[in-house]
Amino acid sequence: MSVDTDILFSPLILQNITIPNRIIRSATYEGMADANGYPQQGLGNLYADLAQNGAGAIITGFCYISKQGRAMQPRQCGIDNDDKIKPWNAVVNQAKKANPQTPLFMQIAHTGRQTLKKFTRETVFGASNKKCIYFRQKVKTLTESEISIIINDFVYAAVRAKKAGFDGIQIHGAHGYLIHQFLSPYTNNRTDKWADGTLLLKEILESIKQNCRDDFPILLKLSHSDDRGLNIRDTINTIMQIEHLTDAVEISYGTMEYALNIIRGDCPVDVILQVNPMFKNLPKIIKKIGKTFFLQKYLSKIIPYINNYNLDAATKINRQVNIPVIAVGGIRNVNDMVDITNQHKADAISLCRPFICEPDLVSNIRQGLYLKSKCINCNLCSIYCDSTNQLKCYAAGAKK
Ligand SMILES: Cc1cc2nc3c(=O)[nH]c(=O)nc-3n(C[C@H](O)[C@H](O)[C@H](O)COP(=O)(O)O)c2cc1C
Repeated sequence: MSVDTDILFSPLILQNITIPNRIIRSATYEGMADANGYPQQGLGNLYADLAQNGAGAIITGFCYISKQGRAMQPRQCGIDNDDKIKPWNAVVNQAKKANPQTPLFMQIAHTGRQTLKKFTRETVFGASNKKCIYFRQKVKTLTESEISIIINDFVYAAVRAKKAGFDGIQIHGAHGYLIHQFLSPYTNNRTDKWADGTLLLKEILESIKQNCRDDFPILLKLSHSDDRGLNIRDTINTIMQIEHLTDAVEISYGTMEYALNIIRGDCPVDVILQVNPMFKNLPKIIKKIGKTFFLQKYLSKIIPYINNYNLDAATKINRQVNIPVIAVGGIRNVNDMVDITNQHKADAISLCRPFICEPDLVSNIRQGLYLKSKCINCNLCSIYCDSTNQLKCYAAGAKK
């Protein structure tokens, strides 16, 4: 049965940028940098493929703004120095050559407490010194002057992204990374002016707007809630305070403490124990004990996968804010995509795992060849981000 998908192919305008359709490739770590965070040729090929096949816009995987803000994934891209502008420009040019109509946004991030000193070779800082139960890393509370440096690092990163030819950026304020640590009452127990969790985000946005001007849209990704007390009212409140500085907001969920709640779906434990640097070197016996005793406890906190799992929150937010809202999380069926946009539940949708197994999904939707994603939420794509493997779909039957 064919579905009328015209609504999905109506443009979304952000400042001077036209997103030609409503189906965006959500930020996805690609594992396509060298060990020093320089993007490699594979990334240009991937973006060219997505662009050629009509992705509405492409948001890069999270890029670190400074070595201190680097994640534990070994092949994460960076935008922490001017030398990276040229290789990023080559990536952008390759995608633009494939399809000049596809806007590219660089996602910029600081991990805060969600990293390991072993990888960053820097002190690990956070909004407070509260450790993340997943990383179990000692964390130092940021001082006022250290916060100023981080604001500047975000601004330099945005300016570099603009110089590299990106159409805009996305600030990663979700998933428990530094900005989320300030927004969440669980991790922000400060008593200075930064106790106002939105202030850091506001100052970053204001400085980027001043330096990059209005012809460089800023997207924002936020977790609407998390497992530790941040709730949707907090998030609506935050957006209302910064919406004059932001061009669209993407609504996700959770932190890395229970990372599976961000993506939902299967938990391939044996592969995690084999590839994740947090566990892979543990003695066999410890892994066995962990599997027996801790796994059940962890899994009891995991929310089961359902389609469109952040949509209700995105819709609630959409009704209260004045900027475009992008829904992400478990969006798999064309009927749902049409319904979301038709009923103004969100202004656009973004997909991550479906684009990994089918980079051509937008052109297939246009041709009526795609009704639902082949993604089975096995999450192997996500688990292997912790290895040096490049991003790919591991499920049988996947196209690439
Ligand atoms: C392999 C993989 C890599 C991801 N990398 C990022 C990232 O770099 N930045 C980010 O904000 N979210 C990242 N995410 C989360 C996705 O952007 C998205 O929010 C989540 O997967 C839900 O969307 P989906 O159901 O369409 O996959 C990643 C998810 C996966 C599975």
